[in-house]
Amino acid sequence: MLFSRPNEAQLQRVNQTNLVFFLQEFTSGPNATVVPVIGITGKTWSFVTFGTIFAIDDAITQTPDRSSARVGRAQGVLVASALDGSNVSVTISIVFNNVDYSGSTLELQGTIHQNERYREVSVVSGTGRFRFVRGYAILETIYYERATSYTIIRCTIELIYN
Ligand SMILES: *[C@@H]1O[C@H](CO)[C@@H](O)[C@H](O)[C@H]1NC(C)=O
Ligand SMILES: *[C@@H]1O[C@H](CO)[C@@H](O)[C@H](O)[C@H]1NC(C)=O
Ligand SMILES: *[C@@H]1O[C@H](CO)[C@@H](O)[C@H](O)[C@H]1NC(C)=O
Repeated sequence: MLFSRPNEAQLQRVNQTNLVFFLQEFTSGPNATVVPVIGITGKTWSFVTFGTIFAIDDAITQTPDRSSARVGRAQGVLVASALDGSNVSVTISIVFNNVDYSGSTLELQGTIHQNERYREVSVVSGTGRFRFVRGYAILETIYYERATSYTIIRCTIELIYN
């Protein structure tokens, strides 16, 4: 189950629910899922160079295990958006392709400080099963393997339905 069933107290107050899943990310190599596509001429395109724009398409799994059930993909754009290189702006669609929510999306947007452990962005809304929802997402890097630039990011989302 992707969703935890809301308890009675929650149902009476607001229709709130949460979901947890994991982004499988490679930032270099032949199977990179985050790739710089443009940046300032003459500078190294990187997460800490203002103006660098990345395309992202991470697989999303149900547990941290790379081979666990796929629930969708995280597709969108990242921009090194702070002049001093400290922040990245995130515009990502969570595109579900699991049985329950196939074709539905959640739209994540915000600016994150790269060195923070818990990075928070808005869930501005969604499509399909997630029409009219809103909430927030917490992104936490739980695993990093330097040799292969392999990263696992836990994404915890709190949603309110009206
Ligand atoms: C929760 O959802 C139900 C059914 O969609 C709706 O009737 C109710 O007003 C909602 N409750 C709140 C607090 O939004
Ligand atoms: C890249 O992906 C291909 C196809 O899935 C796989 O065969 C290959 O081992 C991967 N390479 C690396 C370096 O992970
Ligand atoms: C980076 O983003 C944080 C919010 O995540 C903000 O408080 C901070 O001012 C930003 N820093 C710069 C240099 O833009």
